[in-house]
Amino acid sequence: MNNFTFQSPTEFVFGKDTENKTGELCRKYGAKKILIVYGGGSIVRSGLLQRIESSLKSVDIPFITMGGIQPNPVDKEVYKGIDFARKNDINFLLAVGGGSVIDTAKAIAAGVPYEGDFWDFYCNKAKVEKALNVGVVLTIPAAGSEGSGNTVITKLDGLHKISLRAPEHLRPTFSIMNPTLTFTLPQKQTVAGICDMMVHISERYFTNTEEVETGDRICEGLYKAIIEEAPKVIANPRDYGARANIMWAGMVAHNWTSAFGMQECWCSHFMEHEISAVYNVTHGAGLSVIFPAWLTYMAKHNVHKPYQFAIRVWDVPAISNLKEEVALEGISRLKQFWSSLGLPVNFKELGIENPDIDLLVKKLHENKGELVGSYMQLSKEETRQIYELAL
Ligand code: NZQ
Ligand code: ZN
Repeated sequence: MNNFTFQSPTEFVFGKDTENKTGELCRKYGAKKILIVYGGGSIVRSGLLQRIESSLKSVDIPFITMGGIQPNPVDKEVYKGIDFARKNDINFLLAVGGGSVIDTAKAIAAGVPYEGDFWDFYCNKAKVEKALNVGVVLTIPAAGSEGSGNTVITKLDGLHKISLRAPEHLRPTFSIMNPTLTFTLPQKQTVAGICDMMVHISERYFTNTEEVETGDRICEGLYKAIIEEAPKVIANPRDYGARANIMWAGMVAHNWTSAFGMQECWCSHFMEHEISAVYNVTHGAGLSVIFPAWLTYMAKHNVHKPYQFAIRVWDVPAISNLKEEVALEGISRLKQFWSSLGLPVNFKELGIENPDIDLLVKKLHENKGELVGSYMQLSKEETRQIYELAL
């Protein structure tokens, strides 16, 4: 196991009606004037925004709102938010929504106290030294941004979708997680979120670091819980227990609880970010296409963990002299599971008949360098083969 530090200061407030505590929590964390950031309107239609506004009014904290954040959020909205926040003396961001909204709020929070262009943080020209506090009311379990110190934004000029990691400053101060808020999710979003959290686990689990049995077993337990609970949520979207389990799994999958002391990979995410940047598909649906392709390539070239994954997660019988075959059977069971939820497992099913693989490979290596990933460091020729495996 490698050396590590792990600090997760977020206060998680989980369960029914917890959004009514928003005002109290904002006050506790020093909010004087709040910018509420939200998406395309689901929180208006469900009445959630109104409940949050009442909660803020009850503690006399003034607020203004900024809606319209789209999935796969873009820099234009961040610039707008920074400007808006400065002009209105905002000292606290409240993100009400999913990863796209939370990530935009985090980018605004880092951008407000910084004199330069906020994009400097994403292209490694500057480090986040301070940020406004961000509180979260989560409406979709998926990206894990409610517990992570990450934010992913797309620069419209050139469609560069880049992830920034700044856990010392960008983990939310609090995250309100009420599973009943997820009852209104369309099935497509529910399953994309389930896939996203499974791949967040995988980007840690598929590691060459040795002696990480504790982390491995946390990851395997999480996979198993999700495999058990996901079909219940599809069968009954109002199943509180199943929604609650999925919601918490999504947080644990990405706040580094499962990844201590392991070298992480993130190759599938980097490859997917190019797909969602160019084709504007749902991130989790892009992952259900690219991750099995990546794993198939790993079964051939670095079989150790795909073999363990097949045995421990998918209950494939161990056959030590046929490791690749065992690993491939595990991948086949993973794909069957995702298909049974209605997720696409190749480009065609994602609605992209002829992806521009030249462009995806070019952008990937422009953004991430000559070699991508760590479980295996992949050259342009290798990432091309993986994109082709997903056709
Ligand atoms: O915009 P509204 O109208 O709210 O609708 C949203 C949106 O269309 C809808 N939705 C959310 N909650 C709902 C709901 N509809 C009905 N009822 C509800 N309760 O769902 C749609 C998707 O929302 P979005 O925020 O885009 O989803 P998600 O949480 O999957 O976030 C995806 C973004 O997060 C990034 C992804 O790349 C993508 O840009 N990621 C962020 C990470 C991080 N910050 O740590 C890590 C992830 O790997 C990921 O890359
Ligand atoms: Zn993700």
